[in-house]
Amino acid sequence: MTELGLSHVSGLRCVHCSTACPLTDTVYTCAACGANLQVEYDYDSIRRSWGRDQLAKDTDRSIWRYAPLYPTATRLETPPVGWTPLFAAPRLGENLGLRGLFIKDDGRNPSASFKDRASAIALARARDVGRELVTGASTGNAGSSTAVLAAAMGMRARIFIPRTAPRAKVAQLLAFGAEVLAVDGTYDQAFDLCLAATERFGWYNRNTGYNPCPREGKKSVAFEICEQMGWKVPDLVVVPVGDGNIISGVWKGFEDFRRIGFIERVPRLLAVQAEGSAAVVRALEGDGTIIPVSGETVADSISVSMPRDGEAAVQAVRASDGFGITVSDEDILAAILEVARGTGVFGEPAGVASYAGLKSAAKQGRIDPAWTVVLLITGNGLKDVASVMKVAGEPRLVSTDPRELSEVFEK
Ligand SMILES: Cc1ncc(COP(=O)(O)O)c(C=O)c1O
Ligand SMILES: [Zn+2]
Repeated sequence: MTELGLSHVSGLRCVHCSTACPLTDTVYTCAACGANLQVEYDYDSIRRSWGRDQLAKDTDRSIWRYAPLYPTATRLETPPVGWTPLFAAPRLGENLGLRGLFIKDDGRNPSASFKDRASAIALARARDVGRELVTGASTGNAGSSTAVLAAAMGMRARIFIPRTAPRAKVAQLLAFGAEVLAVDGTYDQAFDLCLAATERFGWYNRNTGYNPCPREGKKSVAFEICEQMGWKVPDLVVVPVGDGNIISGVWKGFEDFRRIGFIERVPRLLAVQAEGSAAVVRALEGDGTIIPVSGETVADSISVSMPRDGEAAVQAVRASDGFGITVSDEDILAAILEVARGTGVFGEPAGVASYAGLKSAAKQGRIDPAWTVVLLITGNGLKDVASVMKVAGEPRLVSTDPRELSEVFEK
């Protein structure tokens, strides 16, 4: 076991029992209780050496502009990950009676999903510790993202997916040269198989809710929101939730910035899950304990029976004074069209579940119309065309004869 000297990282701490341990090349989870670990920094020294003015002068428009808050020495320079567009969505806001609705379009990352933020930090960390072969289990996006970035870095990726993963995500994996293991089972089973493989073969594992690095990459979206909103922290950030790693990362990002004095408060977080895959929301409604569910939903990326970062997700939502909400598959599919037609953003089902959740919360009167709300759209619609075609309809078939057009349009 080798400790890697990163002077700004103070170590790792368990999200469950608070046991501390050093950042090393082999530690994934807490040795005392097996729960997930969180990276901690020397916030005082970062505060002294880095300021908002300095950040404003930084011309790097990628997640690496926040390098002082990552547990890595290596950087992945290209393709650029992060700094995705954040823009006002007044027409969509009007539908919900909200005056300040903003979209953060994370489908605009290199592999077309939010997961590039996580993979970039995990792969950089793998390179730091001299590991060139990375494995991971994924509903599709984390894997395809690992494949894209591994190709860029000249590393190898060995990815476990459920065999039912959408074809576009599988195509990405194969095109970028990953070795793909399509598991005859669910995402949860693919995850367990990937862990068993890691133990047996020693491959570097980037799994969400196991390796602490993905959360450190995912938090970059919070940093960008702060800067892109001109340091006015929004009142609410809406996040689609599967394993709960994105939402715990969003909270960690705001919290890291608060701890170094860049912002004064953390926004409320709204956790959105599909009705059939709602272990985190159920835990939020109960005593916080995660109880596995069936994990069935059209939104494949958030189809999870046992959320691997559920405990950290519950803590994040509670610490932010936020709440959780569930949405039906029907609402998720309808959200694809509403977001597309209301903003020009094409999201995959999980990607727009955030909108379905916000809409439902607004209907229930749980959203103050004066709040500034940021909606995370986490994956591009081209990732799963079969789902959108369930609700988008079919094109009209016409012959090549212009008279036929006249019959249709001039009647
Ligand atoms: C598009 C998209 N949205 C949301 C999520 C949920 O993230 P998490 O599993 O960290 O909660 C995922 C995860 O695969 C995803 O790919
Ligand atoms: Zn522990």
